[in-house]
Amino acid sequence: MTADELKRASAQAAIKYVIETAKPGAIIGVGTGSTANLFIDELAAVKDRYRGAVASSEASRKRLQGHGIAVFDLNDVDDIPIYVDGADEITAKLAMIKGGGGALTREKIVAAVAKTFVCICDQSKLVTTMGKFPLPVEVITMARAYVARELVKLGGQPQLREGFVTDNGNVILDVKGLSIADPVGFETTVNQIVGVVTNGLFARRGADVLFLATAEGVKTVKR
Ligand code: A5P
Repeated sequence: MTADELKRASAQAAIKYVIETAKPGAIIGVGTGSTANLFIDELAAVKDRYRGAVASSEASRKRLQGHGIAVFDLNDVDDIPIYVDGADEITAKLAMIKGGGGALTREKIVAAVAKTFVCICDQSKLVTTMGKFPLPVEVITMARAYVARELVKLGGQPQLREGFVTDNGNVILDVKGLSIADPVGFETTVNQIVGVVTNGLFARRGADVLFLATAEGVKTVKR
C-alpha cells in the first residue's frame, strides 16, 4: 500500500467512528495536514448528518468550506464530541508530536475543548521515544532569540522555520536533537519559557483513540 492509501484507510476508520459515536447535529473538530485533508474529504460525504465543523487552521477551514461544510468559530461552540487529526510522531501511550504543518496552537486549543481526540496516521508515525521529528515551538516574534537560547539549555538545536508565519502571526522554531524521555514534563517545561505560545508535544492531553494504518489493516489503540 502507498503512504496515501494508508492515510486514507486511517481517515476512513475515523469517519466510521464519527458516524458511530457522534450524535447527528454535532459539530466535529477537524485537524490539519495531509491525513486530516483526507478525513475532510470523507466528512464531506456525510456532511448532512452534522451541523458543521471547527477547523484547527485556515487551510482546513478553506477545504471544509470548499466541500460546503459550515465552519464555526470556536468561541461560538460549547461542545465538540470528537476531534480528528494527524500526528508527526505518536507513542503507544498516545502522546504525540504535532505541528509539522505549523498549526499546533489551534490544534491544541480545539483538542482541549473536544471530548475525544482521534488520531489518524500511518505506521511510520509510531515511535518508542519521541524527538526524531523536530519539535515545533510557536514563538512570539520578539522572543525568538531568547527562546532559542533557552531551548539550547534544554538540549535542543532550534532552527527558525524560514519564511513561515503561523495563522496567529507568530514564528516557529523546530527543535532537533531531542530524545524525549518524559513527554508530559518536557511539554510543561517548554511551555513555561516566556515568549512560547505553545509547543507541539501533545502529552498532557494526548489522543484518546488511534487509528493506525498498517499494511495488515487499521489497528485501533485506545488510551
Ligand atoms: C499540522 O500542524 C500537524 O500537526 C499535522 O497534524 C501533522 O503534521 C500531520 O500531518 P500529516 O498528516 O500531513 O503527516
